[in-house]
Amino acid sequence: MKFDVAIIGSGLAGFSVALHLAETQKVAIFSKRALQDGSSSWAQGGIAAVLDSGDSVEQHLSDTLIAGGGMCDEAATRYILENGRDAIEWLIAQGVPFTQDADAELGYHLTREGGHSQRRIIHAADATGQAVQMTLEQKVRNHPNIRLFEHYYAIDLITTDKLDGTGTGSVRATRSTARCLGLYVQDVKTGKVHTVSAQHTVLATGGAGKVYLYTTNPDTATGDGIAMAWRAGCRIANMEFIQFHPTCLYHPYAKSFLISEAVRGEGGLLKLPAESGPAAGTRFMPAHDERAELAPRDVVARAIDFEMKKRGLDHVDLDISHQSPEFLQEHFPTIYARCLEFGIDISKQPIPVVPAAHYTCGGVITDMLGRTDIPGLYAVGETSYTGLHGANRLASNSLLECVVIGKAVAEQIASQEPASVPELPGWDESRVTDADEEVVIAHNWDELRRFMWNYVGIVRTTKRLERAQHRIRLLKEEIDEYYANFRITNHLLELRNLVDVASLIVNSALSRRESRGLHFSRDFPDTLPKAIPTVLAPQRRDKTARGPFRPADKS
Ligand code: FAD
Ligand code: SIN
Repeated sequence: MKFDVAIIGSGLAGFSVALHLAETQKVAIFSKRALQDGSSSWAQGGIAAVLDSGDSVEQHLSDTLIAGGGMCDEAATRYILENGRDAIEWLIAQGVPFTQDADAELGYHLTREGGHSQRRIIHAADATGQAVQMTLEQKVRNHPNIRLFEHYYAIDLITTDKLDGTGTGSVRATRSTARCLGLYVQDVKTGKVHTVSAQHTVLATGGAGKVYLYTTNPDTATGDGIAMAWRAGCRIANMEFIQFHPTCLYHPYAKSFLISEAVRGEGGLLKLPAESGPAAGTRFMPAHDERAELAPRDVVARAIDFEMKKRGLDHVDLDISHQSPEFLQEHFPTIYARCLEFGIDISKQPIPVVPAAHYTCGGVITDMLGRTDIPGLYAVGETSYTGLHGANRLASNSLLECVVIGKAVAEQIASQEPASVPELPGWDESRVTDADEEVVIAHNWDELRRFMWNYVGIVRTTKRLERAQHRIRLLKEEIDEYYANFRITNHLLELRNLVDVASLIVNSALSRRESRGLHFSRDFPDTLPKAIPTVLAPQRRDKTARGPFRPADKS
């Protein structure tokens, strides 16, 4: 397969790049499941941007920097926020049906979320992601220059240094001399692995919430892009900053259902549940932070974690029952209906909630044009690290980043002279036998997610992180052996990526000797005066650090 541009991922980041590029380039989108199976389609609250004259980019910037715990890259943050209005206007022009409000300046209703000093979240009721994604999917499907490969799993990137084995890049260099030439991708339905040659490859693979046992994320969020970029030789930043969303529905049959922060934005209160005895029904957030329920996420998630551990609770309550059923059905139709399915009428009773892993603030280091350390390789969306989210992402800033940087990546690619890509070797099936080890792989998945939850969660200690690190090492050895010797399956590929990502999270957490934003360590509870991002650089010459690579022998 040969394309000008290969985009891996069909979330808002991938769609934004594709639609901004397709007028001039032939684009392929590879998606490991159906097009709508990423986090983007699940987004609820909305998209943050300055859309009202009572608001300003300075205020949005200030809110983002405060939530980010002093760790945001101010230039990148300013760039993304300044382009917010254009991004929203582009989405409106594509036909996204945002919720209207005749009294609002722009004609659209703006809601509020934690950490925002203003109402600035444009939304489509409580299913913003679905509205955005369904609209863009139509555009992408109908575009003659975009080819869609659904159920195609990107396995690994192909770079010049991996092919010739020289590893020419220097570990500390910000730009490698290797170039990305394309990727190996598996047709999930047939099992066949294809070689894709592309002048430009874009990682838009989303986050890594599935590395934790409890997450708001869909099953696709296995950190594939971060792991692929790491194995290819890119630097990765700030992986210790995993955002736990404070309010995920707590119910035995509800897998990963988020209760949007907009519920708190519209007056929802966090209270102690019936199991708390005489304190039941008491609000606890005011005792933790003066911004109470609208404090940034790291603060609220930690407060819930604290209350649950102190009182031996398995959840807390989120109460919005003071709002009328009409208001709730208008603003939160999806949440209202979903909770009713589980026998919870949110207009009459509180919603049981727990924190769950939600967003990967770190990722593949890029500049504001989405360029990674490897020429020809770009990253955008949750897989990337632009510096916008710092130590704790401000709610609803991530969809915005997908669109703004998606456009910047497209413009950067369109401005490049065509480069020639050499013939690439096919995939090596020769040494490969069927594994009789599916059970072991499933067991390893479970083990990894469980110890990440228990040892690398909201509150961390050095001892627990070291325990996790030790177990990751053992898992990695086992998985590398499977990967090198057996026929690959989705399960194995995702586990391989999750283990790489877990290792990046734990190593980053161990190297931070302070508490800041989403990273809280009991051993280092203070915040150091200077905020320094954690940057991990792969040893380019050390092939074993990156695991086996499987092109067929050149001869
Ligand atoms: P995704 O939308 O996750 O897309 C990734 C794509 O890559 C998927 O298509 C996936 O299948 C594909 N993929 C992954 N690996 C491979 C591979 N190896 N090969 C091929 N394809 C691959 N943010 C906001 O700003 N506002 C919100 O209201 C909001 N609400 C949220 C609610 C929920 C429940 C969740 C989970 C997140 C929410 N977020 C919100 C965060 C936001 O949705 C995500 O950060 C954003 O959608 C990420 O977009 P993306 O395009 O980078 O990744
Ligand atoms: C939410 O609706 O609470 C999610 C918003 C976000 O993750 O930005």
